[in-house]
Amino acid sequence: MNPSTTDFQPFELRNARDYARWREWKLADYPASAPELTVPLSDPGALTATESAAILACCRKANMAIYDSGEHPFGKPLLRRFGRQFGLERLDMNLRADEDSITSLRVVPESTGTHYIPYTSRSLNWHTDGYYNSPDEQVRGIVMHCVQDAASGGENRLLDPEIAYLLLRDANPGYIRALMQPDAMTIPPNIEAGSQIREARSGPVFTVEKHGGSLHMRYTARTRSIIWKDDRDTRMAVGFLADLLASDSPWTVSYRLHAGQGIICNNVLHSRAAFSDDAASGRVRLLYRARYHDRIRGTAPGNYFEEVLACSG
Ligand SMILES: [Fe+2]
Repeated sequence: MNPSTTDFQPFELRNARDYARWREWKLADYPASAPELTVPLSDPGALTATESAAILACCRKANMAIYDSGEHPFGKPLLRRFGRQFGLERLDMNLRADEDSITSLRVVPESTGTHYIPYTSRSLNWHTDGYYNSPDEQVRGIVMHCVQDAASGGENRLLDPEIAYLLLRDANPGYIRALMQPDAMTIPPNIEAGSQIREARSGPVFTVEKHGGSLHMRYTARTRSIIWKDDRDTRMAVGFLADLLASDSPWTVSYRLHAGQGIICNNVLHSRAAFSDDAASGRVRLLYRARYHDRIRGTAPGNYFEEVLACSG
């Protein structure tokens, strides 16, 4: 990699030139709709060069792709093989993951004591995954595969964190400075049945990865059990983000996954609508979700620097 490539740092606030170049490339033909992001696959475990390049192109530009594996039988080992082709290797362990660390997301009866919203049919507000994880266990990549869609509802809304960054930085670079503070967002400790199962987590919303210069985002739109830093720019930035996510922004992708389809992404912002299962007809929603500490390989700014240069002339 030549020095100019590794020095390309569009997400550092002090670097106005790289940001301007990157911004022009980012907004040129941005794929902000599900059809533009969808790649049909013949065998998810052994992608063709064309399929793999199509997914990578979407993930470089928009940090996400939707794949469609049709009727191909799809189990957790195949999900694992699919992810590995994009450098997604290190799975995140979480409290509710099955033994193999790939979570089966389905409605779990309330009587089991689980009251986490992902395991209900209720709507899920905007967030990135693992925002409560420790700094060295951040979730950078996700594969979410739909085994069975619900009888109705369950649409996802998705927003590329780099677009959120761009809109915030254009509105006021001070918003980015505020959201990069190491104590911008604090999640109180997780206490269940009187015992603490996770300590409080304090951290920035936006981080620039030391290796590769990629942008990473931690965020939740929840308003309870979260403490935002009490300064003017943080308040304004958080308000700006909340308004953006609540709006009908043209940058937001809305999509309802069907059986055999899935999303591969660099932990983009997402929400989920409420849904209804119908056991009688077998329409009981089931998703497999794998969270990784890795980003999708080949999506760091240095990897597409040539494209940026070509775009800005
Ligand atoms: Fe999530």
